[in-house]
Amino acid sequence: MKKIIISIILFIFANIVYGQFNKLVVDASISKAKIQPTMYGIFFEDINFAADGGLYAEMIKNRGFEFEEPMMGWLEPNTNRFSLNKNSGDAEIIKTQDSKSNRNICRVSINNDKRYVLLNEGFRGMGIKKDALYRLSLNASVQSGDIRKINFAFVNKDGKEFGNSSIMPDRKNWTTYTTKLKATATEANAKLKITFEGTGVIDLDMISLFLEDTWKGRKNGLRKDLVQLLYDLKPGFLRFPGGCIVEGRTLAKRYQWKNTVGPVEDRTVLINRWNTEFKHRLTPDYFQNFGLGFFEYFQLAEDIGTEPLPILNCGMACQFNTAELVPLDKLDPYVQDALDLIEFANGPVSSKWGKVRRDMGHPKPFNMKYIGIGNEQWGQQYIDRYKIFVKAIKTKYPGIKIVSAAGPYPDGELFDYAMDKMKKLYADIVDEHYYKPPEWFRENTTRYDSYDRNGPKIFAGEYAAQSVAIASPDNKNNWECALSEAAFMTGLERNADIVVMSSYAPLFANANAWQWTPDLIWFNNLSSYGTPNYYVQKMYSTHRGTDLLSISFEDGKTVTGQNGLYSSVVKDSDSGELFIKLVNTSGKLQQVFIELENQKLADKADVLKLTSENLSDVNSFDNPNKISPVESQINVENNHIKTGIEPYTFLILKIGLKQ
Ligand code: AHR
Repeated sequence: MKKIIISIILFIFANIVYGQFNKLVVDASISKAKIQPTMYGIFFEDINFAADGGLYAEMIKNRGFEFEEPMMGWLEPNTNRFSLNKNSGDAEIIKTQDSKSNRNICRVSINNDKRYVLLNEGFRGMGIKKDALYRLSLNASVQSGDIRKINFAFVNKDGKEFGNSSIMPDRKNWTTYTTKLKATATEANAKLKITFEGTGVIDLDMISLFLEDTWKGRKNGLRKDLVQLLYDLKPGFLRFPGGCIVEGRTLAKRYQWKNTVGPVEDRTVLINRWNTEFKHRLTPDYFQNFGLGFFEYFQLAEDIGTEPLPILNCGMACQFNTAELVPLDKLDPYVQDALDLIEFANGPVSSKWGKVRRDMGHPKPFNMKYIGIGNEQWGQQYIDRYKIFVKAIKTKYPGIKIVSAAGPYPDGELFDYAMDKMKKLYADIVDEHYYKPPEWFRENTTRYDSYDRNGPKIFAGEYAAQSVAIASPDNKNNWECALSEAAFMTGLERNADIVVMSSYAPLFANANAWQWTPDLIWFNNLSSYGTPNYYVQKMYSTHRGTDLLSISFEDGKTVTGQNGLYSSVVKDSDSGELFIKLVNTSGKLQQVFIELENQKLADKADVLKLTSENLSDVNSFDNPNKISPVESQINVENNHIKTGIEPYTFLILKIGLKQ
């Protein structure tokens, strides 16, 4: 009896001092599945000012005066503090007949030399950087009088100028004028001030301001820091443009890709569906000007070396809103949009849409391989429409893989119905969405273990742990959520034979204008940072590997959360390495002893560790790397790896394989 008590005490003591002991076995001889290059990707949606006021580097809000309130973003000259005199001048909106999309122009009448002021407030201000160069352009048509010069200046909140330039408008014909401004200070909340020399009347349109240093220096470009964060993910695909934004609250307000290509001034501005969706986060100034349209999207995918995955409306408006439906016999234009998009991406320059792509500067096809039909639609109405799209697409483009919807939830009646139908229809890839509490992610790593291996492939298309409740404004991108996602992702990886794509959602949030949290990347007008969730995604996607191997306890059981330990392992045949992912979601140290069967290991292993003391810890603008990967090395002895995994830690062990 005494002996038993002593053993129990010793066991408890050892457990406290040395932590939980786990012996794991990796079999390197059998590739259980190929890991698809698309396994870890990006979900982009224009929510949270992700495009205008975010990734798209335009700094002028409502540059074409096309918002529903055409002077939104432009401060009333006679009511702001910069105005010097009520009668100095006037700005009025003129509706033109010239083009369906670019309807409005701003007619400015100047009565007093240098006394009339027009200000643009930017997207919650403009982030201006000292010594950086900014490219300003505008279209102007002189109507009468003698306006000699238009001056442009950055101003801070006190109205102090810190960088200026000017143009001399001299033509009656619409002319594009450009100039550059160099900032002499850094300011997070600047405005652009426009003043006029001389008197007269002039029409203005498309007043545009870009930092010169965009991604790849493109004129109609993207914010470099934000693209860099995407590039660093080495993503397998880029889904675009959403999300519910694809559906629209009504069919009339759905996303239509054809309105987003061609000259930027001809792209029809549309209210953003997230504009007033959440009463607690109203953003009435949220519109889509589509400067980041489908051409720029394909170009971005190409730039960051990833597969484009466009998602198109399937004749259904958002079922959470109006649920408007296109009758089945009127679906042709929607189906045609899908066929034309494939032609735009892949068609020869001799084709109608291939020519549009060429005219925009990309004669070579984008080689698109996937297309999504509908966002998170559900029910019979979706299936009826999906079938029509599939028939048309597969007939004309048999090689294109189609992503279909499974509704907004990962289980329940709508989900079961969709999955059953998709299996019977031999769907290529089904898109599942789950916004769930962190514990759900820890408890569902075996979700795909029991999926039918002969059924459709799976795209875990939108997921994120919600610390409070789905889309609650109090949700945080905290360490508990990120760690739980890391644990869950071992389950995605262990099922790489059927899970072929996955992406966290949403991607971006403007810290001053968001609607939905949590989000992968946060930014303001000057800077940006990756959340702990971002680093989890990055660690997986940059250690994707090519082949799934097995890792189990000595008794053959898979490592799926016993004592808070989760694991998956892949081999990278190209680099000749093993990537062992280990997640400890418990508050205890875990000792692991990993034995490798049927393969010799190198003498050292790199360790990539992501951890934080408190589950409530977050990254922030002030401390962007608080939770970010830290590298070290350990020795490998006798083909065994011994390591301790601290509480609340995600590790990747990276080990070379000997021939
Ligand atoms: O990611 C935010 C929203 O969540 C997406 O637009 C939608 O598909 C889902 O409901």
